[in-house]
Amino acid sequence: MRIDIVTIFPKFFNSIKNHSIIKRSLLKKKVEIFTHDIRHFSKNKQKSVDDYQFGGDPGMVLQVQPIDDCISQLKSERDYCEIIYLSPCGETLNQVECNRLSVLKNIILLCGNYKGIDQRAIDLHVTKEISIGDYVLTGGEFAASIVLDSVVRLIPGVISNESSALFDSFQDNLLAPPIYSRPALYKNLQVPNVLLSGDTKKIDKWKEEQIIKVTKNKRPDLLD
Ligand code: ADE
Repeated sequence: MRIDIVTIFPKFFNSIKNHSIIKRSLLKKKVEIFTHDIRHFSKNKQKSVDDYQFGGDPGMVLQVQPIDDCISQLKSERDYCEIIYLSPCGETLNQVECNRLSVLKNIILLCGNYKGIDQRAIDLHVTKEISIGDYVLTGGEFAASIVLDSVVRLIPGVISNESSALFDSFQDNLLAPPIYSRPALYKNLQVPNVLLSGDTKKIDKWKEEQIIKVTKNKRPDLLD
């Protein structure tokens, strides 16, 4: 999978690319991640890419021309399955969408800043708007990094024990059961006996019961 990130803060992604699953997936060549600085496509001396809004409301807007030029160049080099604009106005990201994105070949993540981006950049190029929740971030880079992490870990071969991604919360639209590690007894708190029994049938049954119990308690809406 190839992911191109269009942003005014390309360095934001340096640390993300150097940690944990994303770093590993880059090393394993399961994913390629490229950042593109919108400022490089500015046509003025100051390399500015934002301007005042028409209509008099306060707040700056990322201009259409540098975004259009950047994405047009990318599109001239290869086909993209999705060009995603991270925006609070988008569809809220969920596990089903992460799964869908994880099997696509090439995607672009477009990060907005300030008040957002000129609508014409969306009209020209964007195939999907994604929000990471009903709150407003200062920049789409934070949202893009969440899309990156939640999608890249699902790319086949990225997580060594692939089955572990299958047991994630939300993989069946339900929450994950509680998990434990050693020691079996800590400050009077005992790991459930069934998990120490070695009886896989009983353990699976216990896990299924816990999944329902936890989901009922914490997110009853998921059971509706
Ligand atoms: N940009 C600003 N707020 C956002 C949100 N909630 N989701 C995605 N992108 C955003």
